[in-house]
Amino acid sequence: MNYKTLKPFPAGFLWGASTSAYQVEGANREDGKGPSVQDIKRVPPGTSELDVCADHYHRYREDIALMAEMGFKEYRFSIAWTRILPQGTGEVNPKGVAYYSDLIDTCLKYGIEPFVTIFHFDLPAALSEKGGWSRRESVDEFVDYCRILFENFGDRVKYWLTINEQNMLTLVGEAIGTANLNKEESVIKQLYQHNHHMLLAQAKAMKLLHEMVPGAKIGPAPNISLVYPKTCKPADVLAAQNFNAIRNWLYLDMAVWGYYNPIVWAWLEENGALPVIQPGDMEIMRQARPDFIAFNYYSTSTVEASDGTEKDGGDRAKKDERVGVPGVYAMARNGSLPTTQFGWEIDPEGFRATLREVYSRYHLPMMITENGLGAYDKLEADGSVHDPYRIDYLRDHIRQMRLAVTDGCQVMGYSPWSAIDLISTHEGMVKRYGFIFVNRDEFDLKDMKRVRKDSFYWYQKVIASNGEDLD
Ligand code: BG6
Repeated sequence: MNYKTLKPFPAGFLWGASTSAYQVEGANREDGKGPSVQDIKRVPPGTSELDVCADHYHRYREDIALMAEMGFKEYRFSIAWTRILPQGTGEVNPKGVAYYSDLIDTCLKYGIEPFVTIFHFDLPAALSEKGGWSRRESVDEFVDYCRILFENFGDRVKYWLTINEQNMLTLVGEAIGTANLNKEESVIKQLYQHNHHMLLAQAKAMKLLHEMVPGAKIGPAPNISLVYPKTCKPADVLAAQNFNAIRNWLYLDMAVWGYYNPIVWAWLEENGALPVIQPGDMEIMRQARPDFIAFNYYSTSTVEASDGTEKDGGDRAKKDERVGVPGVYAMARNGSLPTTQFGWEIDPEGFRATLREVYSRYHLPMMITENGLGAYDKLEADGSVHDPYRIDYLRDHIRQMRLAVTDGCQVMGYSPWSAIDLISTHEGMVKRYGFIFVNRDEFDLKDMKRVRKDSFYWYQKVIASNGEDLD
């Protein structure tokens, strides 16, 4: 749909950007922090360990001052469970509480809303060794951790996110380093049992926050992107519906309405992989309500009908093999989209389409908690960093978000990935996403100096004009 006049972004729109603890903080064995699954995993070959990252743990004041200079209205960061509870349960680490307390106060000093992710891929190693999310007890362990956060920070934090990308933990958990699976048993059955426990933990956390901190807001933060059919052949359309249900709607249907998506349920049943649901679980799911839907968006996916030979599941088409789920869907290349230096498809219009679809299904305000472009940025001899490709990517996505607002979608904020350079999930430090350059290489820590990229100055103008000035 074309418009003669675009609606403005609402007043009070939350412009900012995001990070996560294990990717940005470093200091992963300091001040009483326990190890998480990220700290004990084998990092991908050729990439840095997670002991220093951007050294945000020691430099957060300087970093937040730079975010304030950009004009941030919010800063989305995650709390490392193992800084608060080094073993995942039991004794609270006062230094961990003090660290996040000061980080929150520093944000507030500049008028930046802290937007806190409770759990971003960093399950305590001590809990993972016991079986992680496979155990029923994991639900209460998570809720106990949440209670500690709400008690300590609920007086200052208005916005909370439950679990970052629970759908990716379920679809590609082994690649993220989080899935702890028993190779002897059905993988799908185990994964969807973990998933049930996370869904229940999330529902209980949402309920708990509403009871403990009236007025505070909480929502899920999956990675949502519309799945396109490769062609208009009906079999491809059905495959797209299948993957949309498995990748996207399962998570949001449960968070918002408290029921299992019927297509996913039928697929699990067919595979003997239905989760064990205890009496009362679904009642809790139905009672819990998010205040908004947060989601991360990088690009859309495209699928075609399965021919029965697919391997792996997963979310991205590998060049030489058919990836997908036999009988359900096969990943496909879109063919009409440009890609980043790292091969990720770029689809700003798909962002608008995804916003429209999510709003039409759930009618809740939406918060964009990640969106961005990873690239090999370079510090020039004169101290500048030119990243026009990132500006183009973000500009195109913000334009489409504005069109979605004009379409009638309620969007409350935009928090791209990432505020500052940090370690990528799979591709190390050299895959940079930030507005702020960190002067280190993959293994050479150099001086860790913070440098404003061209995108820093551009985003400053975007925020100052509430999204009007995108040039
Ligand atoms: C999201 C995650 O999946 O994508 C982030 O929430 C991650 O943790 C981001 O860093 C970008 O992915 P990558 O693999 O390029 O780091």
